[in-house]
Amino acid sequence: MSRPAGFVEIRQGADICWLREDALSTLSSDLFEPSFWQARNAVTGTATGRGITWFVRDGERELVLRHYRRGGLFGRLVKDLYAGLNPGNSRAMRELMLLAEMRAQGLPVPEPIGARLRRVGPFYRADLLIGRITSATDLLAILQAGPLSAGQWQQIGSMIGRFHAAGIDHTDLNIHNILLDRDGQSWLIDFDKCGRRAPGGWQQANLARLLRSLEKEKRLHPGMHWEPPHWTMLTDGYRRPVIK
Ligand SMILES: Nc1ncnc2c1ncn2[C@@H]1O[C@H](COP(=O)(O)OP(=O)(O)O)[C@@H](O)[C@H]1O
Ligand SMILES: [Mg+2]
Repeated sequence: MSRPAGFVEIRQGADICWLREDALSTLSSDLFEPSFWQARNAVTGTATGRGITWFVRDGERELVLRHYRRGGLFGRLVKDLYAGLNPGNSRAMRELMLLAEMRAQGLPVPEPIGARLRRVGPFYRADLLIGRITSATDLLAILQAGPLSAGQWQQIGSMIGRFHAAGIDHTDLNIHNILLDRDGQSWLIDFDKCGRRAPGGWQQANLARLLRSLEKEKRLHPGMHWEPPHWTMLTDGYRRPVIK
């Protein structure tokens, strides 16, 4: 894989950026700094997960800015440093390339806009800019607000089945990484460390992870509109992916 068509490479000091040439008001490494957007009064919201995800506006475009952070015990020591300096192998560029490929295949994922790698000695920090799925909310918020119909559960399953048919292993398939938009269409986000794999045990591992996520959130939020029969609806849809 290499830099996708339509992206330019910008080198600025310790930074290497890949930016979509026709989508941004400026082609600069500053785009990856929350302070750049704050100074322009262009922050439209934030979401807090492992780190802060910034929602920003660039002209007519709604974007999402994310800094790569480590999880787990190791992450407490080195919060956001990664080894290796080959841009094409960095977390941000890999996710950008994968998003571009999936978009080209018509899979429902955010639009890739830019990636940055910042050298720090033999390590790097990384950031990603993607299109915001406007009017979309994550599945947890949706299920807290009300139940989904059997057809909607099947549609989510079918959507996951399309990714699997394309060989995409989503290693963090959980309820926060599935979004539903106003039209009821479902989307997948958060493809750090994900990639294309030959068929194997990973498809079932993805589904098992999603089921655990649903069960865990149900324990945390007993009012959430999820019951075990909904899982059967989802897996029914999964077995019959609708190829659009
Ligand atoms: N492209 C996007 N469009 C709309 N909302 C998004 C998008 N990317 C992230 N979000 C929202 O921000 C939350 C956190 O983003 P995510 O990229 O999954 O970061 P993390 O899981 O590392 O906290 C998501 O659960 C979702 O609600
Ligand atoms: Mg996430």
